[in-house]
Amino acid sequence: MSTTKEIRSSFLDYFAKNGHEKVESSPLVPRNDPTLLFTNAGMVQFKNVFTGQEKRPYNRAVTTQKCVRAGGKHNDLENVGYTARHHTFFEMLGNFSFGDYFKDRAIELAWNLLTREFGLPKDKLLVTVYHDDDEAAGHWKKIAGLPDEKIIRIATSDNFWSMGDTGPCGPCSEIFFDHGEGIPGGPPGSADEDGDRFIEIWNLVFMQFEQFAEGRRENLPRPSIDTGMGLERITAVLQGKHDNYDIDLMRHIIEASAEVSGVDPDGEFKVSHRVIADHLRSSSFLVADGVLPSNEGRGYVLRRIMRRAMRHAHMLGAKDPMVYKLVPTLVDEMGDAFPELKRAQSLITETLKLEESRFKETLDRGLKLLGDATGKLGGNDPLPGDVAFKLYDTYGFPLDLTKDILRGQNRDLDEAGFDAAMKKQKEAARAAWSGSGEAATDALWFDLHEKLGATEFLGYQTEVAEGKVQAIIKDGEEVEKAAQGDEVKVVLNQTSFYGESGGQEGDHGMLKIQDGFAMVVKDTQKKQDLYIHVGQIAKGELTVGDVVETHVDHRRRSRLRAHHSATHLLHEALRQTLGPHVTQKGSLVAEDRLRFDFSHQKPVTEAELAEIERAVNDRIRLNADVEVQLSTPEEAIKAGAMALFGEKYGDEVRVVSMGGPDAHKGAGRNYSTELCGGTHVGRTGDIGFLKIVSEGGLAAGVRRIEAVAGEAALDYVNAREKLLSEAAATLKIAPQELGNRLHGLLEERKKLERELADTRKKLVSGGGGGAAEAPEQVGDVALMARLLSDVPPKDLKPMADEIKKQLKSGVIVLISSNEGKASIVVSVTEDLTGRISAVDLVRAGSEALGGKGGGGRPDMAQAGGPDASKGEDAVTAIKGLIAKQASGEVAAG
Ligand code: ALA
Repeated sequence: MSTTKEIRSSFLDYFAKNGHEKVESSPLVPRNDPTLLFTNAGMVQFKNVFTGQEKRPYNRAVTTQKCVRAGGKHNDLENVGYTARHHTFFEMLGNFSFGDYFKDRAIELAWNLLTREFGLPKDKLLVTVYHDDDEAAGHWKKIAGLPDEKIIRIATSDNFWSMGDTGPCGPCSEIFFDHGEGIPGGPPGSADEDGDRFIEIWNLVFMQFEQFAEGRRENLPRPSIDTGMGLERITAVLQGKHDNYDIDLMRHIIEASAEVSGVDPDGEFKVSHRVIADHLRSSSFLVADGVLPSNEGRGYVLRRIMRRAMRHAHMLGAKDPMVYKLVPTLVDEMGDAFPELKRAQSLITETLKLEESRFKETLDRGLKLLGDATGKLGGNDPLPGDVAFKLYDTYGFPLDLTKDILRGQNRDLDEAGFDAAMKKQKEAARAAWSGSGEAATDALWFDLHEKLGATEFLGYQTEVAEGKVQAIIKDGEEVEKAAQGDEVKVVLNQTSFYGESGGQEGDHGMLKIQDGFAMVVKDTQKKQDLYIHVGQIAKGELTVGDVVETHVDHRRRSRLRAHHSATHLLHEALRQTLGPHVTQKGSLVAEDRLRFDFSHQKPVTEAELAEIERAVNDRIRLNADVEVQLSTPEEAIKAGAMALFGEKYGDEVRVVSMGGPDAHKGAGRNYSTELCGGTHVGRTGDIGFLKIVSEGGLAAGVRRIEAVAGEAALDYVNAREKLLSEAAATLKIAPQELGNRLHGLLEERKKLERELADTRKKLVSGGGGGAAEAPEQVGDVALMARLLSDVPPKDLKPMADEIKKQLKSGVIVLISSNEGKASIVVSVTEDLTGRISAVDLVRAGSEALGGKGGGGRPDMAQAGGPDASKGEDAVTAIKGLIAKQASGEVAAG
């Protein structure tokens, strides 16, 4: 007997042998269809290939596709556990032709696989075709040799398959397996077709059309094939089972559940084991694909699935969380085919454990409340809506969980009453909020959030997705449509764009609809859990309801990621180097740099900065995985995560840890662990390296570090190196000689300046061999006046002193012109200071030079003036005043 693993492989190998490309299962969160909650068929990832919008390098493919049917249009949640073939998670095996082979070859391939490879007896098989599809019927007859009564024509939509209200579609042909007379039920199309005897195992869809919203249906560019066969169903048939839960894979999980709980797998609690086995699969795969439990959107569907499983674990009498203990069995069974399970194993385990321990806190009390309420009800009276709402709101019981419990009592619940209670609560929240005095513009976002719910952020997993336009805001007002040139804000139901928060700037990029529409997104904001794409329409029109592709600017996002992860490492390096008093005071994660403000009383020394930078780069080079987990703020902080004081955290927080093991943190803990909603690198090596650019004081006790990482660090270092090489080129030396050379040049310059000053002194004073000019006489006073050019003002005084030594008695006036401006020094020998004041003289000189003031002592004063061309006039003015003071006409001082 073949195992599930072998059957999966034979299917894939068979089609690979027949020229099909083995293609990976796409993620459970569809990237290319915002109207779909979860991937629910194999063809979802090929939707645009069928319509011709997307090209792939192959035109035949084979997959085993992970599918979840819960919460959306195909919702199997309520039935799971009670029936033989309902699952929230299943694998769809499928082969695809994109304009390559069509009906005949599809039928031939399917028939040969079932009868030859899988060895199913021909007489156990029968097929259906769409009522007017003579072509398919003819092929079945010819290829499979089936008699007419085993080719059943069906006129209903059962044999016309469409992906949804829009998209690729076409007639289909289904293959049924007859489980034999022992089981009640009739063939397809008969009155008792819903019985269990004839089970559909494979659906071959002849993709021919594309359905549009307004009812129009057009031919696809090339007729194609899409098939789907549930792996669990075909395995049941091949393993001689009638119930999908009896196949080896499901049985192993059920037995693990029995072992962990100590409860008979086939006894009274059979349903609970089956629910747990199924829900373990969907929960684990959803977590592996990036969905985490929350109170909105996909996260809430996951929460509902998890809590349903957990209630069944509770029914099994489990005192402690148990569902997470089954993860190793699941990984053994499916981890080879889906390596993402192995990669995410610890995240899955922790997420399940956390959800289960939290839900346990309210489950008992909720069950008691429910017990009391139903105890008061008569017979099969429905449960009042307000009780169901209280269970939902206070005890975290999703509505379907309450229904599942009531199902055991054959009791309904009053859903209208539940809705009314929900509405009342929302109105109360609105009223409370209006009173809180926030800005009127925010009212718009509050109301939109009420109407639309939170935007689902897909950007942790993908940079390109599709989103449905839910609101367009133009000039502060909601509009239905916007056109080229308009500046708008756009809200989508889901997006890959990160909205500015937690210090990380918002994403930039493009919103597009093929070639028809393009909007340049210049910023993404986040308000009330709505992601707001801010930008301008570059081309075409946008209408509410449109589906747009969301293309994040990859380069900018990569730079933001590197800076965000580097910030976490820097934070820890600061604490380990400077001390645990370091706490974050502010942070900016931008494209070109990061900025981190922190508490610390004194400047960080060069040596400390070098140590911090080295520590961060060591951690970067360790290149360990960056791990993300979901937790409650309390749990996370207890486990050593750094959180911001005073920050408001929701019930669930993302815990980002990185940097590999660390001696300071203890076993199993990473170097850095923080509560953070930002986007991060996959491994620290992706940061590249970190360079601290500056450190300085910001406010009392707060320091600021700026740094660059990744590509920005390379840009920074390159710019620095360019400066160096340009400087070296100017000096015509190699850059490494710059230090020595500059030092030498400065020394040389000092020496030259000294020599120049000496030479000048000598020249003016007649020393150094040259004869000094003789002083002129003003009355009985000897005057030595000189007009100089380009002598620095600071050199004038020493020059005057030099002359003074030789003059013995007299007045010295030195005026130097520097770039048109004048500096003047007047010096008076000691014997004359009683009669003549240097200060008075310098003022007279300065005035003539267009200046004012000047100061000093009676024997030495200096001043300046804006007009050096008036040097002669200044000397004349000084002479006049000397004559007056010398003669006693004017008193000195
Ligand atoms: N897309 C087809 C289905 O889901 C094969 O049944």
